[in-house]
Amino acid sequence: MSKRTKEILANMTLEQKIYHLQQITTATFLTTKESKFEIITGPDSAVKLDKGMVYDVGTSLNLVGAETMIDAESNYLKNSKYKIPLMIMQDVIHGHRTLYPINLAVAGSFDRELAKDLAQMAAKEAALDGMSVTFAPMVDLVRDPRWGRVMESSGEDPYLNGEMAKATVEGYQGDMGKYNIAACVKHFAAYGAAEAGRDYNTVDISERTLREYYLPAYKSAVDAGVKMVMTAFNIVDGVPCVGNKHLVKEILRDEWGFDGIVISDHGAYEEMIVHGACEDKKEAAFLAMDAGCDIEMMSSCYVEHLKELIDEGKVTVEQLDKAVLRILDLKEELGVLDNPYRSVNVEEAKKVQLSPEHRALARRGAAESAVLLKNDGVLPFSKKVDSVAVIGPLGATGAIHGSWHCGGKIEETVSVYDGLKSLLGDKVKYAQGCPIEYDAVDESFFDEACQLAKASECVVLCLGEDQEYSGEGNCRTSIDIPELQYKLLDRILEVNKNVAVALFTGRPLAISRLDKTAPAILNMWMPGTEGGNACASLLFGDAVPSGKITMTFPRALGQCPIYYNHYTTGRPKAQEDDEKFVRFTSCYLDMPNSPLYPFGYGLSYTSFEYSDFKLSSNTMNRGDTLVASVKVKNTGKYKAKEAVQLYIRDVKGSCVRPVKELKGFEKITLDVGEEKTVSFDITEEMLKYWNRDLKFVAEKGEFQVFIGKDSACKPFASFMLI
Ligand code: BGC
Repeated sequence: MSKRTKEILANMTLEQKIYHLQQITTATFLTTKESKFEIITGPDSAVKLDKGMVYDVGTSLNLVGAETMIDAESNYLKNSKYKIPLMIMQDVIHGHRTLYPINLAVAGSFDRELAKDLAQMAAKEAALDGMSVTFAPMVDLVRDPRWGRVMESSGEDPYLNGEMAKATVEGYQGDMGKYNIAACVKHFAAYGAAEAGRDYNTVDISERTLREYYLPAYKSAVDAGVKMVMTAFNIVDGVPCVGNKHLVKEILRDEWGFDGIVISDHGAYEEMIVHGACEDKKEAAFLAMDAGCDIEMMSSCYVEHLKELIDEGKVTVEQLDKAVLRILDLKEELGVLDNPYRSVNVEEAKKVQLSPEHRALARRGAAESAVLLKNDGVLPFSKKVDSVAVIGPLGATGAIHGSWHCGGKIEETVSVYDGLKSLLGDKVKYAQGCPIEYDAVDESFFDEACQLAKASECVVLCLGEDQEYSGEGNCRTSIDIPELQYKLLDRILEVNKNVAVALFTGRPLAISRLDKTAPAILNMWMPGTEGGNACASLLFGDAVPSGKITMTFPRALGQCPIYYNHYTTGRPKAQEDDEKFVRFTSCYLDMPNSPLYPFGYGLSYTSFEYSDFKLSSNTMNRGDTLVASVKVKNTGKYKAKEAVQLYIRDVKGSCVRPVKELKGFEKITLDVGEEKTVSFDITEEMLKYWNRDLKFVAEKGEFQVFIGKDSACKPFASFMLI
């Protein structure tokens, strides 16, 4: 806190301070609408502000565009009584105007630098539109593919989530001067554990599970210096997160030492009443302030009741001051106090957003995030073919850039058809094949598609789910591709076997049937603005797939939740019996335990040989560092990248430990025939966990070490921690 912000605070009235904690939509301040204040409609009408004070709220959210930002900010300042500049925040989730793949895909690149570069690109584009804060990264650990928001997350592993959290926070907040924006990690905490994968649903997990799996990624963001934290909609242990003192005050603030801004999620203060956690808005205001939440997004409990609570002595002016100071401090740090237009630049925005450099980076992001799930030899297709058919409801649309598209536009996104045409020219033809809706039954497009497939040398079949089937509020009880798409595939295969499926999805899908029938499956996820170009270069061998999945793909939804880092149980079924039913072991009558594709899985056009596994010692004294290493050789025909993964298993603990845990990874590039040694340090710190007494310690005993290309790899050595 600086002298300057303290002085500003000293001159603020009580009412002004309270309004500084209020966040409403930026659109409220536009001059281009008839009645600015009346824009707060629909769910937003819950925000009851004094018309005289609307122009003195501290922050606002979500409105893209440099010109609109200038209009909103200047109109705000013109009408503001107190003239403290407004700080504008925005959901810049997987890109601002140039979209890159959804975060679940980017995590699968296993490339920290790439994740950082992409975040940096987004920050620059957002800063040029005048944004000061992004509501990202979202680092909720996820295990249930029904949940629509898995697309925003980096997956099911606490370590990988933490690494991606750190990389993206560094990207947004990095070293770009005025182009930096502040990051806001969300949704604190455990939003990803919503029961039955239904958005906003109950979360009920033990303190141990919370600490072991769910909290580490938020903590990594905090350790990386994230400026803000957003609380989650859900309850944890019966208390909504925004009013959860244990989470916000005891863990986030006291234990982790976070002194930045805590913001609620959209309308979450008032939702505490609906949860049944408090009686009215006054109690909601009290609970949130008591827990340590500073900014109230899109409800108005503070402005309506904080003064009363202060008069009654339930909230102190010191508490209020602290919250206001945090906001003023961030405004000062970002330069908003000096110049709210610090980074906005209409002309530069036009040049930088969607520039060739940004498109190239988005394209690299998409190419390195795509996952080759199956290839029986058809891929890569040869560029020498005379005719290529692009078929499928996702083949000629830009609606593959992902559901949190911010300023991104469908018409600015390269479709697969367009991408292939720019690579191969007129020999590429398109037929829709079938509609995209999950309940579509119309087969009338089949004949045209089959004729095209028959007349073509190879077929790119673009299947999957609509991009609006994932994202907030978009949950599903069926996660296979629609029956109609299977029928289309079968019909196409009758006339042409040279078929590769380009899959588009915002979540892991249960595609056992597709895996059986399709000759090749390239999972593009939702690949962003340059998706079509990236897809074309991968299918025709200009790029080699190297992405891996960071969330398990189940064989069927009935296996969910399914994740690699589970506990063993007292009656595990032996891996060699996976295909059999073995009664009285932990298994299913009708399906193996193993997933369709495990965490960390992804194929390449080349092959890698792992050999010469080494561990520097079989004992570790406290404070020692062991080194685990492996030689990886490119034994195939393509220069390619590989994400080498280190896993460790703590064989016995005062609390049971997962069957394995990711503890390191390195993405390497190998030329044809090239060999590299990859080494990982193993430290005592990496062996720590929340033990029986909820102490974060490394317990003595045996640890197994695994290195491999995915989480199905086997241990090659073990050591004793003494
Ligand atoms: C979402 C947040 C988002 C906020 C602001 C909420 O509905 O849960 O992730 O940041 O809206 O748009």
